[in-house]
Amino acid sequence: MFKKIFGGADAYKTVPQRDDPLFREVDWQRLPRHVAVIMDGNGRWAKGQGLLRTAGHKAGVRTLKGILSTAIGLGLEALTVYAFSTENWKRPHAEVDFLMNLFSEYLARELREMHEDNVRIHFLGRIEGLPASLQQQMAEAEELMSGNTGIRFNVAANYGGQDELIRVMQRMVREGVDPEAIDEEMVAGFLDTAGCPPVDLVIRTSGDQRLSNFLLWQSAYAEFYFTETNWPDFRPEDFVQAMQDFAGRDRRFGGLENK
Ligand code: FPP
Repeated sequence: MFKKIFGGADAYKTVPQRDDPLFREVDWQRLPRHVAVIMDGNGRWAKGQGLLRTAGHKAGVRTLKGILSTAIGLGLEALTVYAFSTENWKRPHAEVDFLMNLFSEYLARELREMHEDNVRIHFLGRIEGLPASLQQQMAEAEELMSGNTGIRFNVAANYGGQDELIRVMQRMVREGVDPEAIDEEMVAGFLDTAGCPPVDLVIRTSGDQRLSNFLLWQSAYAEFYFTETNWPDFRPEDFVQAMQDFAGRDRRFGGLENK
């Protein structure tokens, strides 16, 4: 049975197995390969509890732990989460500092367990713009897990979809790529997500219905799942609900199948 930790209902310790009651309704044949999550609403959750915004981010880390475990249990190929956008620097210094420390603590604390769970962590974005010590931790985490064969866990930090495409174009020009040789496959290979399947499903919590510069290229044919639930309240059960919703979608990729 999927064990709860921290005394709260929103974080889970061990990876749930296929026969876990959590997965009772799962359609194993129609799961997405790659799920991307916009973890929104930490601030609103905190406000609702009469707490500081930073408490919302802290609670958000617990949620993330449970969702990663659930994604592993489901056997997803890739999970990508939006931790910090290129626009998030506009937030107050104290909040930005808090988030950087939170990422660092998270890595220090979760590294071993993620490695044991065969996770391959990878960071997306302009990593060189982050604090040097965090960059070092990120590089070490990637290196440690580089030989793993389980879920690819992408954490987008100092990430923007348009910024990613600018970096792709800059690299292509710098490397003297023949313009006629550029096709979709080549672009995909230059992205921060190189090697990952395209995004099948984007989940956004907390009510807003927009992409906010997240995975613009990768989400070209993604399905979208929006929920009013704030990220700290988003539970493994809600994630499984999104999988069930996805299983019922009619994906045509611009064609006429099933029409
Ligand atoms: C959006 O909520 C959330 C963020 C900008 C930060 C996301 C970070 C976490 C969930 C922490 C865990 C991440 C890692 C990788 C350890 P918001 O602050 O925009 O909420 P609001 O829209 O209600 O103000």
